[in-house]
Amino acid sequence: MHAQLDQIEASALAALQNVSDEASLESWRVAYLGRSSPLMGIFDQLGSLPKEERPQIGRRANEVKRLLEATLAARAEELSQAALMRTLQAERLDITLPGRTLARGRLHPATLTLRQISHIFAEMGFQVYRSREVETDEYNFQMLNFPPNHPAREMQDSYYVKTSADRGDNPLLLRTHTSPGQIHAMREYAAMDPDDPPPIRIILPGMCYRYEQVSARYEIQFNQVEGLVVGYHITFGDLKGTLADFARRLWGPQTRTRFRAAHFPFTEPSAEVDCECFLCGGEGCPVCKYTGWLEIMGCGMVHPTVLTNGGYDPQRYTGYAFGMGAERITMLRHRIEDIRYFWGNDLRFLEQF
Ligand code: PHE
Repeated sequence: MHAQLDQIEASALAALQNVSDEASLESWRVAYLGRSSPLMGIFDQLGSLPKEERPQIGRRANEVKRLLEATLAARAEELSQAALMRTLQAERLDITLPGRTLARGRLHPATLTLRQISHIFAEMGFQVYRSREVETDEYNFQMLNFPPNHPAREMQDSYYVKTSADRGDNPLLLRTHTSPGQIHAMREYAAMDPDDPPPIRIILPGMCYRYEQVSARYEIQFNQVEGLVVGYHITFGDLKGTLADFARRLWGPQTRTRFRAAHFPFTEPSAEVDCECFLCGGEGCPVCKYTGWLEIMGCGMVHPTVLTNGGYDPQRYTGYAFGMGAERITMLRHRIEDIRYFWGNDLRFLEQF
């Protein structure tokens, strides 16, 4: 039986040399360590051996069994490592391959300017107030002190919206400026505390529409940024200081501004703000049409009638407002000569920003 065990051991180890995958390893296990293998046969026979031979044969049989089990485990480990290496090789990822470039969009030049303007006013403590683009005649004109048939309406020829019911002298229209937002904002703030309405410091950016003959200078749609400040003791000095500082933050710290008298029905007194031309520094060039100045916005002290319409008592409150065109400012900054580029959807234009 000793010789038989030696022989089992030798042939098992020899057979293991030919095992090259997990399936043949399993057959090897069944053949040499399985229930009906010769080695297990020997364990079965132990009971019928003479008493004195039993311990020796038993020890040897256990030795062979442990050896074969250890060899099996080692071989299984080797095979699984080899299999892993094979898959790693076969499924190799070449991470040095350059990626495919995605077509990335970008912000529209008018949006970039709107964001920069909002950023500057945010630093000065203004909040953004969003207001609707479809307005009533009442908000767009009447509340802002443009009575029906007032000649100032001529400046803002409008797109009216068809409605099923006749709205009489209060038709719907696309807002011609962001100023109707002043009334919405004041009424909303005043409603918080009608006896003592809170102060207001907001900008109101957004799209406006006018029925224009489209040309290099006029479009039927454009963005404005309105500003509104209402509180106790707000003066024209506050207006001037804020807008002069805005111009310096937008065009550079040396920028000078000038205020020229103007007229708007909803502000009194009213002014147009010019900035010294950032290109020529006031010398005169094609961008400023050789005047040295760039007109950038309208402004003024909020008219008492408008304060009243907003729910603010003009005896106690004063305020100022301003409005500027975002495309116009973008055109000046980038020397864009034709406003039609903005909504023309031409990638050759848009990709430059
Ligand atoms: N709403 C005016 C316009 O569109 C601009 C403006 C706003 C003027 C606020 C004064 C105060 O021309």
